[in-house]
Amino acid sequence: MTAANASIVALGPADLNSLIEHFIASAAQSGRNGDPVNSPYGRDYVFEEEKARETRLSAWGKATTEAGWRRSWGLRGADRIIGHVELHAGRLPTGLHRCTVGLAVERDYRREGFGRALMQTCIDWAREQPSIVWIDLGVFANNSGAVRLYKSLGFSEVGTTQDRFRVDGQSITDISMTLRV
Ligand SMILES: CC(C)(COP(=O)(O)OP(=O)(O)OC[C@H]1O[C@@H](n2cnc3c(N)ncnc32)[C@H](O)[C@@H]1OP(=O)(O)O)[C@@H](O)C(=O)NCCC(=O)NCCS
Repeated sequence: MTAANASIVALGPADLNSLIEHFIASAAQSGRNGDPVNSPYGRDYVFEEEKARETRLSAWGKATTEAGWRRSWGLRGADRIIGHVELHAGRLPTGLHRCTVGLAVERDYRREGFGRALMQTCIDWAREQPSIVWIDLGVFANNSGAVRLYKSLGFSEVGTTQDRFRVDGQSITDISMTLRV
């Protein structure tokens, strides 16, 4: 897959099936075949497809001045979504100047610049939204490639929580990072 035959697109209801297929594929790669654990869900977790669908159908329609809004972009390969980035707001109106980012590119398509391009797409979009001041994220300390990507985009480390999750017996240290857009 190269930049010539993959594209980053804003996602809507028609993309939900492909997005969910990608979420499930990405989660299954976490902690396997040499990949660092990057998902807080353990091996036995069953992805809640219906909940994921409902959350997005409702949150995509919300303005960025409304609690719970969400925007999602997909990396579209030949016939399905192979990477994504999402921004979402919290539930409190007093926190709407901040949002949180989530990102994944499936293993076969990594180290080709897609992770950076997805992040840049959502940062550029956030910069155009008058209500958004900060993008926050959590990244597992063992996920050094992702930490490196975020630092290179200007994210700063603001805190570390040791033993934040225990995933399949592994204690996970979580790093909080933020970017002022
Ligand atoms: C983190 C992730 C999104 C990076 O996606 P990607 O498409 O491979 O990233 P890019 O090719 O755009 O790489 C951008 C930069 O990130 C850093 N980077 C990414 N993966 C790296 C790795 N495995 N080792 C070292 N650096 C890495 C490098 O600095 C790289 O720049 P370079 O290629 O010029 O050296 C991808 O590895 C992934 O989806 N991992 C699983 C899910 C995940 O960890 N999501 C983040 C959770 S917080």
